Amino acid sequence: MTITIKTPLPGPKAREAMARDARVISQSYTRDPQAPVVVERAQGVWVTDVDGNTFLDFAAGIAVCATGHCHPQVVAAIEEQARKLIHISGTDFFDPTQAALAERVTALVPGDFPKRVFFCNSGAEAIEAALKLARYKTRRQYVLAFTGAFHGRTYGAMSLSASKTVHRTRFGPLVPGIIHVPYPYCYRCPFHLERTSCSLACLDYIQETVFRKQVDPQEVAAVFIEPIQGEGGYVPAPDDFLQGLRQLTAQHGILLVVDEVQSGIGRTGKMFAFQWADIEPDVICLAKGIASGLPLGITIYRSDERDWGPGAHANTFGGNPLACAAAQATLDLVENSLLNNVNAVGPYIGQRLFDLAEEYPIIGDVRGRGFMLGAEIVAPQGTKTKDKEGRDTLTRLCYEHGLIILGCGENTVRFAPPLILTPEEAKLGLDVFATAVQQVARRG
Ligand SMILES: Cc1ncc(COP(=O)(O)O)c(C=O)c1O
Repeated sequence: MTITIKTPLPGPKAREAMARDARVISQSYTRDPQAPVVVERAQGVWVTDVDGNTFLDFAAGIAVCATGHCHPQVVAAIEEQARKLIHISGTDFFDPTQAALAERVTALVPGDFPKRVFFCNSGAEAIEAALKLARYKTRRQYVLAFTGAFHGRTYGAMSLSASKTVHRTRFGPLVPGIIHVPYPYCYRCPFHLERTSCSLACLDYIQETVFRKQVDPQEVAAVFIEPIQGEGGYVPAPDDFLQGLRQLTAQHGILLVVDEVQSGIGRTGKMFAFQWADIEPDVICLAKGIASGLPLGITIYRSDERDWGPGAHANTFGGNPLACAAAQATLDLVENSLLNNVNAVGPYIGQRLFDLAEEYPIIGDVRGRGFMLGAEIVAPQGTKTKDKEGRDTLTRLCYEHGLIILGCGENTVRFAPPLILTPEEAKLGLDVFATAVQQVARRG
């Protein structure tokens, strides 16, 4: 397959579908009005709209379709499971598909200690479970999270998030006891320092300011962190920061909760992004890529004598047999071939972006790992002035030329293709992106 745009975009059927949608669907969704894709079907890295236009997909839903759209092995696993059992609530009944998946995912997580799994249906729910568990286990009420964080839309997850005010406006009061601290966003250091000489001022801030002036660390249940901030702008935390945070939390009996909802399941070239820093978190939250598009959230936690008991937390649908089957097929693919693919093709995408940044100063920063890369768009004068309009024009131009690509943060373009992307497909997408960059740069 290749990119095929046959109609003006959006095409006539797409316009009709959008008008229908606008009458009945919640207005709270953030579909890009500049680059609307009305999807009819998708296969691999190719998305076909209702007018028969085919786009190359560098977004994978929102970093969800790890194995590409409708991978035959995933489809077969779902079909086979659907003939046997579609639902039996794991809360009240025993479902061996859940235990099998729990055994598999806990075995993937580093750390020589017992681990257990809580199943749910989304990233926000996986975070919600982690928040409740952390307070339950430690009997402490305070929690630290980072500016720029996005953990989801439910009350707990929203209260932990601090990436855009629109996510919180008019929803207060939020969950109390959450303290936000600066994230190590090195391109825009919150302390205006240089990475080479900063001595991890953001870690010092937690120690010296939060733990001495705001809250006794003995009252802190957990620290929540995305190893690479997702919605906040594809911003990776330096490895030594994650290592320092692990040390600091362990020192005070604080649980380290790593949100791998977007960065997990091979996207960065390791199964989990925190593995680049070689740390052992206490709690890991997964969703998005784990079941290749079926709803599944997983909270994996270090199990000990403080664990919660029957009735403390549960849900009806979590760990649905179809989602568990899709997750098993996804993990087979990721382990057997896709991790290798990310490590082979990811550096090519990264290099192309670095080369573009050299040529076009509107790309102020290129960052991330594997297939989780961000390009931050700025004014060309070298002032790091955020150019949201330029970023939006870029994603629109890509769309017009048949490449689906999403923004994140205020002014960043994110590269989050399915993990099956071949070198040829990567080149095709980057050629489209490069042409769009050239056009935006020439805009003056
Ligand atoms: C890092 C991270 N955590 C949590 C969530 C929330 O996941 P969901 O939308 O499935 O609730 C997201 C969603 O974008 C995310 O990127």
